[in-house]
Amino acid sequence: MLAAVPFRVGFGEDAHRLEAGLPLVLGGVPVPDAELGAVAHSDGDAVLHAVADALLSGLALGDIGQYFPDTAAEWKGMDSRVILAKALELVRGRGYAPVNVAVVVTLDKPKLGPLRAEIAASVARLLNLPPSEVGLSFKTSEGLAPRHVQTRVTVLLGSIEG
Ligand code: C5P
Ligand code: MG
Repeated sequence: MLAAVPFRVGFGEDAHRLEAGLPLVLGGVPVPDAELGAVAHSDGDAVLHAVADALLSGLALGDIGQYFPDTAAEWKGMDSRVILAKALELVRGRGYAPVNVAVVVTLDKPKLGPLRAEIAASVARLLNLPPSEVGLSFKTSEGLAPRHVQTRVTVLLGSIEG
């Protein structure tokens, strides 16, 4: 039998189809040069959705669709920061808080490198972490999925109960 371990690992994933004439928001930051934006029931922030699912998964709390069904009219166009705040509240309610997160965004265009510091600061602020605890990697699909954004996130959760 293992002794109680004060850490949990979580993993989350999200993807959205992209279309012209829609906004693209990643990590709570509007991407200024995006020709294509996310088709979604909410604001389609694939980074915040994957971070929220990663938080929930670390404590086997299910996924964001259970708390915010994409069939519910009340969640239409909703700000994904609300979704993340709910996931964080559930995690804290179990006595855990995020230690660090690693985020991989696969998107062909535009280049996100220039937004790295802004997205890291935004995600960090929402998780109550310093930006140094938010790792961001950006990848293209090499043209395999030009109308698609995909995000994968791991998170380490630490016990806050000493
Ligand atoms: O996917 P690939 O290896 O071709 O990406 C090359 C580099 O381009 C990445 O390492 C990343 O720094 C950058 N990139 C970016 N924004 C994207 C995709 C990739 O800044 N949307
Ligand atoms: Mg999503």
